[in-house]
Amino acid sequence: MRELTYFVAMSIDGFIADPEGGAESYPAHCDDVPVWMADTYPETIPTHMRADYTQDLTNRNFDIGIQGLKTYRMALDVGITRPYAHLRQFVVSRSLKETPDPAVELLSGELLPAVRALKAEDSGQNLGIWLQGGAEVAGQLLPEIDRLVIKVYPVVFGSGVPLFSAEFEARNFDLETVKTFGSGALALTYHRR
Ligand SMILES: NC(=O)c1ccc[n+]([C@@H]2O[C@H](COP(=O)([O-])OP(=O)(O)OC[C@H]3O[C@@H](n4cnc5c(N)ncnc54)[C@H](OP(=O)(O)O)[C@@H]3O)[C@@H](O)[C@H]2O)c1
Repeated sequence: MRELTYFVAMSIDGFIADPEGGAESYPAHCDDVPVWMADTYPETIPTHMRADYTQDLTNRNFDIGIQGLKTYRMALDVGITRPYAHLRQFVVSRSLKETPDPAVELLSGELLPAVRALKAEDSGQNLGIWLQGGAEVAGQLLPEIDRLVIKVYPVVFGSGVPLFSAEFEARNFDLETVKTFGSGALALTYHRR
């Protein structure tokens, strides 16, 4: 049984991207966060950046990544078709008939049953699923999210893409850890109660 973890970066006021969907507004001085990511969640370091790290980036938490088409498009727009080659990668889309990379699988049918089936698989390595975003896909998968890892950056956006696009429903999570960074960022880890 795999756990589904939504691991994402967020502004103090709850946005994962600016109103145009860009990530350029996260403060550049928080360079202690990617160091922690490489040490603790090495899977979150994309393929094209891995040469910059000296750490062992073997998968430790996840063997599957799931992202919505708008999130995947950010890689496609810069010519990258398989941004996380160390993961079994799924892209969620109704409009795509096939993905531009044979190693990237398409999820186009009923989303929740498909993700439940992936969760029910025995990975054999006790690795889980990284829900990579964005808000639309995360909102639909909320009933299946087991863990949240929220990197809170010391910035306020005022508006933008929210953490989830979903109908109101209160769901309780227990705080597991709080990692504080010298830069002012936080990494909050929660488990579904
Ligand atoms: N801060 C972070 O760590 C972080 C992480 C990830 C993403 N982001 C940001 O989040 C933004 C994208 O989030 P978003 O909410 O706009 O979009 P998204 O969730 O990434 O993708 C939405 C797309 O997914 C497809 N989709 C959604 N539900 C579906 C379903 N049930 N079945 C089939 N396809 C489905 C649709 O594609 P079709 O149109 O093809 O049907 C939809 O247009 C980007 O701006 C990105 O920068 C930030």
